[in-house]
Amino acid sequence: MSKAAEFHDRMLSLGLARVSEAAALASARLIGRGDEKAADQAAVDAMRTQLNSLDIAGVVVIGEGERDEAPMLYIGEEVGTGSGPAVDIALDPLEGTTLTAKDMPNALAVIAMGPRGSMLHAPDVYMDKLAIGPGFKPGVVTLTMSPSERVSALAAAKGCSTEDITVCVLERPRHEDLIAELRSTGAAIRLITDGDVAGVMHCAEPDKTGIDMYMGSGGAPEGVLAAAALKCMGGQIFGKLLFRNDDERGRAANAGVTNLDRVYTRDDMVSGDVIFAATGVTDGSLLPGIKREPGALTAETILMRSKTGSVRRMSYRHPTGR
Ligand code: FBP
Repeated sequence: MSKAAEFHDRMLSLGLARVSEAAALASARLIGRGDEKAADQAAVDAMRTQLNSLDIAGVVVIGEGERDEAPMLYIGEEVGTGSGPAVDIALDPLEGTTLTAKDMPNALAVIAMGPRGSMLHAPDVYMDKLAIGPGFKPGVVTLTMSPSERVSALAAAKGCSTEDITVCVLERPRHEDLIAELRSTGAAIRLITDGDVAGVMHCAEPDKTGIDMYMGSGGAPEGVLAAAALKCMGGQIFGKLLFRNDDERGRAANAGVTNLDRVYTRDDMVSGDVIFAATGVTDGSLLPGIKREPGALTAETILMRSKTGSVRRMSYRHPTGR
């Protein structure tokens, strides 16, 4: 690979922040308007335009869906000017479309970039996820433990009672048993209606968010994005793909997944250096949402690099109507 085509994550990262900012700003006028599709479309269009201005030879690995389902930012779409390093891109222009439409907390625009071949091509199926923040021995909690064993193990590692642990879980009928078992430990449960990328990221800053652990099933593509975030922030995430039918097993085969029972660690999902940017759309525990004032919109972005562990928070005031 020529020098010019190396993955200079430091130089690329500021460009990546502009990409998530553009998506969040574009969806701002649709916050609380009850139209998920329009909000998503606005974010997708803006993210794609901004992404295509970057000097990268990018391929969307985690995107809006398969080519026949998504007109833009589909899996396999080539993005960027083509004159730069070969990179994998994982993105979700609007993570929390319903949160945005209903003006509920923690909707984000998110994007991650790493060298070509460094990200898991996760099929669009569910993934069983387990995540904790930084500072614990590898494998202190595992997917093979029962939910209550995980709570006990984390409490022991933290030197606290199980009642001092808060677990974040997506509120879904499929999680009824999980929630009942977690309640039996005395742990607190932060139920979220959507947005498990934010749910997992919250584990990395428990002092700020009050969340120690994430558990339950959600989208596998979101699992890879969350792994990219935790690779920068520190913390552990484990994921196992879940299949409900042959169509979903076929999706996995198309994505090159051969072992359907594999438990992926954070570094299996994102194996190289990664940069990650998220911009708040609606207010959340980690990032404020877009602020509107006459003549301007303000966006807050978190930009992180796994190589250095650097975390940059940026505020961008965007004049409107010019
Ligand atoms: P969208 O932004 O595409 O609506 O996804 C939101 C989300 O809550 C994800 O964060 C999560 O992984 C997934 O949906 C859960 O799926 P389901 O709603 O089917 O339980």
